[in-house]
Amino acid sequence: MGKSSKVLVVGGGGREHALSWKLAQSKHVDTVYVAPGNPGSSSEAKIVNIEIKATDIEQLAHFAQNESIDLIVVGPEDPLVAGIVDEFTKIGIKCFGPTAEAAQLEGSKAFAKRFMQKYRIPTATYQSFSDPHSAKKFLKNSVYPMVIKADGLAAGKGVFIVNNFAMAEKSVDAIMTDHKFGSAGATIVVEEFLEGEEASFIAMVDGVNILPLATSQDHKAIGDGDVGLNTGGMGAYSPAPFVDDELQKKIMDEIMLPTVHGMVDEGMPYRGFLYAGLMISDQNEPKVLEFNCRFGDPETQPIMMRLSSDLVELIQACFNGTIESFPIEWDDRTALGVIMASSGYPEKYATGFEIHGLDATDLAYPEVKIFHSGTAIRNGKIVTSGGRVLCVTALGRDVKQAKKVAYEAVKKVAWDGVYYRRDIGDKAIKLLN
Ligand code: AMP
Ligand code: GLY
Repeated sequence: MGKSSKVLVVGGGGREHALSWKLAQSKHVDTVYVAPGNPGSSSEAKIVNIEIKATDIEQLAHFAQNESIDLIVVGPEDPLVAGIVDEFTKIGIKCFGPTAEAAQLEGSKAFAKRFMQKYRIPTATYQSFSDPHSAKKFLKNSVYPMVIKADGLAAGKGVFIVNNFAMAEKSVDAIMTDHKFGSAGATIVVEEFLEGEEASFIAMVDGVNILPLATSQDHKAIGDGDVGLNTGGMGAYSPAPFVDDELQKKIMDEIMLPTVHGMVDEGMPYRGFLYAGLMISDQNEPKVLEFNCRFGDPETQPIMMRLSSDLVELIQACFNGTIESFPIEWDDRTALGVIMASSGYPEKYATGFEIHGLDATDLAYPEVKIFHSGTAIRNGKIVTSGGRVLCVTALGRDVKQAKKVAYEAVKKVAWDGVYYRRDIGDKAIKLLN
């Protein structure tokens, strides 16, 4: 890429605010367009929002051709699974992410499970079902707890941990009979419940080679202490101290390398961010809970706060096949992000509430960055427009300090019906004490 390149980021959440913010800091970039972006991204220097939906591949292609965009970076899974990379490859524009075929690693849990079984990648034992009767028959004789997952995309909400047959039956009915997740629930995966510590392992992959990024931990459940329904993620921090060098090597050897090599063998080489959601057992054995074909949200927000290298150069290295030897650099501090959400999320919630305190908080805390997710501008004011609204992210010398500063900033921001977890980072703090 030349000096004054144009980049287009696809998506409009907190992850895309963080990615576009980091890309705009690149010395190679003149303008970052975000489709559709949010009021957070549009308030940044060098960033311009454009009113095209992340899934409108035709309009995005139109825009990219007219504006002579040099590089496209895709945030969310839907356009990847729908084949955005294939479309842009056809018209000769570099688009960072996996092809539709390779994105099945996230797009179909049944595909991912079959793939892991074939390549002996450690994961929970499972069965898949495409009719509710045989699923229930199997569940009748299962030992609980068990985990029931919709096969397709469900924004992190299509997973149910069930403690008995009655709960299992209810979940099967919700997914397969009431079609709670539409066609994503035509097939379900029923799997063994795994215990341990969760970690997000995110890497950049160039088709063959892998560069692991900084480790992180998300908090999937809605309630403190990991109770209640699953969400897209309620807060994250990086690094995750329980993923030490030895465990990292094991994850690379047993999970990441066999996955990337297996995808080559399948004839669908993987390029893009590759995210393995892991459960680490007491014996330090990692198993895959799921693959995502993209960066995590909210993991992106703390990880981008810590990335010192130029993100455009990293992505270029993935196109050049040189990612493995990239001298990536990180801020040694811990970054911790707290999601501020609309109460009711991940189920029904109201929106349109004015958000107070944003500018003052930004100014008062230089080590804090507030990334927007579900926000909108109405009558010149920033209001809530989604379930996950903001990710207040702070850098600190350790996780305790990062947590302290992040929550101080969280308390300065308010709207009617705000909800957030109060224990983001506590597992790491406990471990380090
Ligand atoms: P997934 O979208 O498959 O990662 O599932 C979402 C969340 O559900 C995970 O982050 C875990 O917290 C939980 N989960 C999924 N699968 C399992 C499992 N086999 N055992 C225990 N918890 C699970
Ligand atoms: N934070 C979990 C995800 O992005 O899927």
